[in-house]
Amino acid sequence: MKSALACLLATTVLFTTPASAAPRASRDFNTAIKLKADAERGEGIFTHCVACHGADGGGQATGSVPRIAGQHYRVLLRQLVDFRHGKRWDPRMEGVATSHTVVLELQDLADVAFFISNMPRDGARGVGDGEDVELGEQVYAARCASCHGAQGGGDDARGIPRISGQHAAYLSRQIYDAVDGRRPELSRTHGKLLAPLDFQQIKGLADWLSRVEWQAPHSPPDGSADAEPIKAR
Ligand code: HEC
Ligand code: HEC
Repeated sequence: MKSALACLLATTVLFTTPASAAPRASRDFNTAIKLKADAERGEGIFTHCVACHGADGGGQATGSVPRIAGQHYRVLLRQLVDFRHGKRWDPRMEGVATSHTVVLELQDLADVAFFISNMPRDGARGVGDGEDVELGEQVYAARCASCHGAQGGGDDARGIPRISGQHAAYLSRQIYDAVDGRRPELSRTHGKLLAPLDFQQIKGLADWLSRVEWQAPHSPPDGSADAEPIKAR
């Protein structure tokens, strides 16, 4: 089973051409967000994610695979659609998001996103060396908190990711990926926010965020048909 999936992933990576899919991605997202999501179906689809993201959705403490449990519904859905349309590049994820035999339909993406968003965001995290945590906290308060929230909790309605409780190495990799243009959406939304950050600041930010205890209650998304379609960001 595992090797069959690996094989499928390998061939998909070779033969898919993502490219120029921006309008289609927005259209898909706006369609998907209006679907009524089914957590039970989502749980079944989640079995296809466990090999990498773990049974608890906690990812890998090394940061090679992110924690997805407890991420906001809209954020998860947006990421899955973006992977599917090649707006976010990772060969491991594109295979899953575009061509996995089960996760093909928007309904599947909605269902699995809904299930994951309701998983508890606890469990072990990969943290940094602790040396720049204080600096990270200051930089965060000054430059990031206005959108991502004081505790890094994000905002479902605005499609802003929860970034606290994420593995430090993953967070810093995302920041560098955005700066280098490997995450076009993130580069666009973050504009010039991330580029001026130096090595120590990025290290501190990632370390602090990975250690924040999430205090505020997570309001489970309803994933229902009457959810407002997301506004262009
Ligand atoms: C073969 C391994 C693998 C499988 C299987 C897999 N993922 Fe991933 N996933 C990854 C990796 C690696 C990343 C990080 C990509 C990057 O660094 O940009 C990721 C990233 C993500 C993200 C973005 C997280 C963020 O914080 O931005 C989401 C959402 C996600 N995966 C959901 C899923 C779902 C849902 C499934 C099952 C349907 C799944 N993944 C299956 C490896 C995998
Ligand atoms: C103007 C609002 C805004 C500000 C300020 C902001 N962000 Fe974001 N951030 C967003 C939005 C919206 C997204 C989702 C974009 C996407 O993934 O396409 C995001 C995504 C991210 C991600 C990717 C999360 C993931 O799981 O993939 C990281 C990491 C991040 N931001 C870090 C930061 C840091 C660090 C700062 C401060 C230096 C910051 N952001 C400031 C709005 C903001």
